[in-house]
Amino acid sequence: MTKTWFITGTSSGLGRLLTEKLLARGDTVAATLRKEGSLDDLKALYGDRLWIGLLDVTNTEQVHQVVDAAFGDLGHIDVLVSNAGYGLFGAAEEASDAQIERQIATNLTGSIQLIRAVLPHLRQQGGGRIVQLSSEGGQIAYPNFSLYHATKWGIEGFIESVAKEVAPFGIDCLIIEPGPTETNFAVGLDRAQPLACYEDTPAGEVRRALASGAFEIKGDAIKTVDAMIEAADAEKPPFRLALGSSAYTSISQVLSERLRVLEEQKEVTLSADRDS
Ligand SMILES: NC(=O)c1ccc[n+]([C@@H]2O[C@H](COP(=O)([O-])OP(=O)(O)OC[C@H]3O[C@@H](n4cnc5c(N)ncnc54)[C@H](OP(=O)(O)O)[C@@H]3O)[C@@H](O)[C@H]2O)c1
Repeated sequence: MTKTWFITGTSSGLGRLLTEKLLARGDTVAATLRKEGSLDDLKALYGDRLWIGLLDVTNTEQVHQVVDAAFGDLGHIDVLVSNAGYGLFGAAEEASDAQIERQIATNLTGSIQLIRAVLPHLRQQGGGRIVQLSSEGGQIAYPNFSLYHATKWGIEGFIESVAKEVAPFGIDCLIIEPGPTETNFAVGLDRAQPLACYEDTPAGEVRRALASGAFEIKGDAIKTVDAMIEAADAEKPPFRLALGSSAYTSISQVLSERLRVLEEQKEVTLSADRDS
């Protein structure tokens, strides 16, 4: 049976590929984007099965208008994909206030407000599915990506809580955690002004690795999108899905270490309870 999807950030990368693949298999897509005209080729091919809305996810009023318009025109939307996002690159003190605000407004507040705007519609129609693009960086952290990690760790916490709130309404959630994947993401990085004092630190090392091309991008965008679709189609999808060997290795290492440390601290941890 065909489905109807609502996707943000469809002008490039995973959002665009997802839109292409879903349309090609016969689904209907409400694709939202900032760059008017980016999907003209798909519109010419698929006509009414592609609904296009101009949406900058940092504009909460627009989020509500576009979400309401899509549900109004399409009647029923099965899956929301909160995909729009980008990375802010630089040590925490190198980033400007404006860069930090935009990063949080896009990846974190933008996703939160989008999901809040969609929930009343999903409840009213008796259920639906929310797919949130996080990252391996929603569970681990590299130097120079602190603000990006703050948004991805933040949105994972938000979704984990919301999933419990909305399960009784037939709404479920899926968090996608790709490792570095070949899209426009690296080109689109918002780079902070470097400070010389970080040159000989781990942040400087990561900066040099990125500049020299030594930072390996192992993820294949098409295979990533195929795995996302398969998970989103499942009757009972996993709550989290890590994609790519980088995501597997890094998340596995960090979770094992976190559990080891928790167990090591068990006595001290339990000692903090009240006596009574
Ligand atoms: N590629 C990776 O390595 C990787 C790894 C883990 C997670 N992710 C996540 O995957 C998602 C998609 O990224 P991608 O890899 O496909 O990168 P991409 O090719 O750069 O695509 C990002 C999309 O987000 C859109 N966007 C950015 N800010 C927006 C805003 N304020 N409002 C609406 N749309 C906005 C961009 O639109 P414009 O064209 O208008 O800028 C673009 O369509 C992101 O959430 C990213 O964090 C990517």
